[in-house]
Amino acid sequence: MASIVGLIGGTGLGDLVDGDIRHVATPYGSAEIIVGEFAGRSVVFVARHGAGHTVAPHRIDARSNLWALASMGVRAVVSTAAVGSLRSELPPESLAIPDQLVDRTHGRPDTFYDEETVRHLPFAEPFCPVLRGLATDALPDAAPRATVAVIQGPRFSTAAESRLFRDSGVDLVNMTLCPEVALAAELGIGTVTLAIVTDTDSGNFADDPDAATAELVFRRLATVRGRVVEAVGRIVEAIPEAYAPRPLIDDEAIALILARPALR
Ligand code: ADE
Repeated sequence: MASIVGLIGGTGLGDLVDGDIRHVATPYGSAEIIVGEFAGRSVVFVARHGAGHTVAPHRIDARSNLWALASMGVRAVVSTAAVGSLRSELPPESLAIPDQLVDRTHGRPDTFYDEETVRHLPFAEPFCPVLRGLATDALPDAAPRATVAVIQGPRFSTAAESRLFRDSGVDLVNMTLCPEVALAAELGIGTVTLAIVTDTDSGNFADDPDAATAELVFRRLATVRGRVVEAVGRIVEAIPEAYAPRPLIDDEAIALILARPALR
């Protein structure tokens, strides 16, 4: 069976794909999905923060979004994520393909396996190594690995939080990749993320003009948009029709989750 590619557009990329809007009813709520074409391929698209950036990071209904994508046959997700950087080697406007996550979020529904069907996801490698390999080959200018701390938001980090993250080996900071990547894996979907550095998080010195503000994040994303759209296209083109994600959860458990009745 050909693998269907799902795209999740983060901040500044909520309009990455044009197409037919579908409201997919799920057991958790309704998900707005766009069915369209991207890089010459049929894709299904979710704007993570809604089309007009109206959904705050801690309010994103990631379970509905991922359940809807899985129910439409998606096996591979390519997502974008705005990130702050804690490393001079990853300056604003640079790109990275993260390989690790540190989950610092709380209170977000973060599993499908919380009633009746209990499963424990192996998550040592949160992103799909095959998709990451394709992406790093396709994008030689992007950093081939990075550890991302996912904070609760919507506020940015304090200087002490940034220092703590940097000292413990974190490279990038974001607000949305958790629980999204784990929820995808729980439904048998492999993920690769293109991280876009927009700022230096809490800043490298007093009055650092690259310290994170929402205005700066949107401005930087607008500046790099053309390069990012092209980069996502190159990743999508590199995914073979026969792509199959790692079997981290048994098919029977996934089928039980996808058989749950949708809320009406
Ligand atoms: N998204 C973009 N920049 C960020 C930062 N510094 N912290 C968390 N999320 C971000």
